[in-house]
Amino acid sequence: MTITAILSALAEEQQGLLDLLQQPQKTSHAGRDFWQGRLHGQSVVLALSRIGKVAAATTSSALIERFKVGRILFTGVAGGLGEGVQVGDVVVATEFMQHDLDVSPLFPRYEVPFYGQSRFACDPALTALLLQASRAGLESLALPAATLLHRGLIASGDRFISGARESRALRLALQGGGHEALAVEMEGAAVAQVCFDYGVPFAAVRTVSDRADDAAHVDFPVFVKDVASLYAQAIIREFLKLL
Ligand code: ADE
Repeated sequence: MTITAILSALAEEQQGLLDLLQQPQKTSHAGRDFWQGRLHGQSVVLALSRIGKVAAATTSSALIERFKVGRILFTGVAGGLGEGVQVGDVVVATEFMQHDLDVSPLFPRYEVPFYGQSRFACDPALTALLLQASRAGLESLALPAATLLHRGLIASGDRFISGARESRALRLALQGGGHEALAVEMEGAAVAQVCFDYGVPFAAVRTVSDRADDAAHVDFPVFVKDVASLYAQAIIREFLKLL
């Protein structure tokens, strides 16, 4: 049976999954804890990406090399960047890019050197399942009708975006390069690139915790604790049932 890695950015998001994990077995490796076990009938490994692209790349590589996972699912929170992407909405990623990568003029802005591309696509089949699971998971939570499910590009960078002016500038810069990002976070593009390198299917879902504006640092911690973990649990339950 293919082993599924479930990667969360923060411990608050992982706790609900750990509580449900059957036959849990903890391994400490590369300064991280990896939890193997069974969840909703599937073999899984739960891990924390930690924050930032380098940390996320280390965790992803370890999941693939050491724990032999055959697919990676990322759940976490993100700042809403696109118009109409509001706090409480959910974004299923179709692609990732690094908004803080700039090797110009040697390479076009945002392009990852020697890959000839700036965007890394998520696995289409896994992403279709994740969309279906997100729809079902959100329905089960009986959320307000205004809660939207988006799908599209997410931009990652080693920076917490916490200002309206900064967020607007980032959006305009990305649009200048032809990139319309729905949300911003700090790990997804790294995981996507590692999965690309190893040929491991990858899908990601992010709940919007803030609008990456002046209130972001206030909205973020409250949201992660009270809301995001419930969303993640519901979506992951439906996703594992669909595999
Ligand atoms: N993750 C959640 N909110 C974020 C923000 N505003 N900037 C970067 N990463 C985030």
